[in-house]
Amino acid sequence: MINAVLAGDRVRLRPVRAEDEAALQAVFSDPSVAVWWGDPARSVRDALNPDEGESGFVIEAGGEPIGFIQCVEETDPTYLHAGIDLAVRADRQGQGFGPEAIRVLARHLFTERGHHRLTIDPSAGNRHAIEAYRRVGFQTVGVMRRYEHGPTGEWRDGLLMDLLEGELT
Ligand SMILES: CC(C)(COP(=O)(O)OP(=O)(O)OC[C@H]1O[C@@H](n2cnc3c(N)ncnc32)[C@H](O)[C@@H]1OP(=O)(O)O)[C@@H](O)C(=O)NCCC(=O)NCCS
Repeated sequence: MINAVLAGDRVRLRPVRAEDEAALQAVFSDPSVAVWWGDPARSVRDALNPDEGESGFVIEAGGEPIGFIQCVEETDPTYLHAGIDLAVRADRQGQGFGPEAIRVLARHLFTERGHHRLTIDPSAGNRHAIEAYRRVGFQTVGVMRRYEHGPTGEWRDGLLMDLLEGELT
């Protein structure tokens, strides 16, 4: 688990604390986030109780919590990589905070944690997210068919994207 505060120009990523429950609820409960992340109560619970290998951060801008970003590290040397996922609060979307948070975390994963490859797996229909990830340098690997359960129980395709060290923009 990464227990560090990571700073960028406009955003600061700091490890999630128990007192972040209300701030996380504000991020995950908006329909623009819940449509992709699923049940808000479960998202909050998972963010507060990371699994083995997961590190979760509150994204802060101007000292205020505006989102959540996490990474899952695969440490088996044969398959070494880290996956990233994030959500920005509805009123702060579309202002470049998400891509900046990814850049800050990605830089840390490359330079401090020894990774050479990062992945991200948005829903294939999440156009805004896919554009934001392309802007940071992620490339499409391919479509993972019927990859995730959508909020109304249907299976949705996911898009596997990856980013190699040196490709971060
Ligand atoms: C996807 C997400 C992380 C991107 O972060 P961001 O800070 O919004 O990224 P950007 O500012 O670069 O905006 C990305 C795109 O979304 C658009 N956008 C984002 N929020 C918007 C909103 N509320 N209304 C209209 N457009 C919006 C931006 O205009 C931009 O579109 P473009 O690429 O066509 O120009 C963030 O929008 C988000 O959390 N969305 C909801 C949850 C989600 O989809 N999480 C990702 C799961 S994989």
